[in-house]
Amino acid sequence: MREQILNTKNEALSLILKAKDKKELEALRIAFLGRKGKLTQLIKEIPNLPEEEKVQIGRLVNETKKAVEKALDSQKSRITYHVSRITKDWLDVTAPGIKPPQGHLHLVTQTIREIAAVFEKIGFVRVRYPEVEWDWYPFGGLNFPENHPARDDWETFFVEGLNHPRYGPGVLAPHTSGGQLREMKRVKKPPIRMLNIAKCYRRQSDISHAPMFYQFEGLVIDQNITIAHLKGTLDYFVKQYFGPHRQSRIRSFHFQFTEPSFEVDVSCLICGGKGCRACKKGWMELGGSGMVHPIVLRNGGIDPKKYTGFAWGWGVERVLMMKYGIPDIRLLFEGDLRFLNQF
Ligand code: DAH
Repeated sequence: MREQILNTKNEALSLILKAKDKKELEALRIAFLGRKGKLTQLIKEIPNLPEEEKVQIGRLVNETKKAVEKALDSQKSRITYHVSRITKDWLDVTAPGIKPPQGHLHLVTQTIREIAAVFEKIGFVRVRYPEVEWDWYPFGGLNFPENHPARDDWETFFVEGLNHPRYGPGVLAPHTSGGQLREMKRVKKPPIRMLNIAKCYRRQSDISHAPMFYQFEGLVIDQNITIAHLKGTLDYFVKQYFGPHRQSRIRSFHFQFTEPSFEVDVSCLICGGKGCRACKKGWMELGGSGMVHPIVLRNGGIDPKKYTGFAWGWGVERVLMMKYGIPDIRLLFEGDLRFLNQF
């Protein structure tokens, strides 16, 4: 039976390739796939096969049927193309060529560039710090006491076999905030206007969390920096990125490394602030921010009596999902072209 099917397939494919017009193709379709066609006859015999062969043969027949249908289709377009070329018998040398398909940057990359451009316009310098980091940078130096329960919020991956005598165990950076300390140590003397866009890792996975994601972290340190600068900068971003009609607000919150700390919200895209099912009373949560804690400034080697600063750290995927209404972060990492080609 298997052999019969394969022979029928070979016969069909070779005849189809030789067909010169649509009439011949139609005759072949009937001869193989029609009610009394050769393949159809074979399909009818399947119920009489021994039980253990039914599934395998069934699958083979199905594949064969699909292959024959596909061959019929492609020969048909080949014939149509050929006929139109010779019957029209003209050549337009000015007609545009056929463009080869072209790829484009991933939506996450596009967004990173867009965010960087928004902040570079107002004097931020884009930097990037290690993805494999010492514990002190994302935690201890940011005012998290040893074994403090707040560390649990970051669901950190530890790297086996790495241990720094002073900076502790190796971790995959769980947020970009550790870059604040690295930047203070690098620049040494304010002013600092840092934009740190980098990969972060946490042990988490659901529709709004992926084990690897990006954050963009801002840090401004200078003399007389106040909450007004924080509010103005973040509102500028909201209007540049989401649109001039969107509003922002700050809500008090707690982080170990800022005092005071805020959560920043943007007015809802759907209801415009009235309140709907997609938002919280007209607002959507963007991410954390605050005035840099004096202990953090000191850990970075900056005198908190002379300088103040503000910082924020937001998810790249989060802001882009809010902008385009993408419901599941995993869509961004599956590589499905039906999704990616829309952007
Ligand atoms: N690092 C925080 C997180 O991953 C976000 C954050 C909050 C960053 C406040 C900041 C900040 O710079 O000031 O959840």
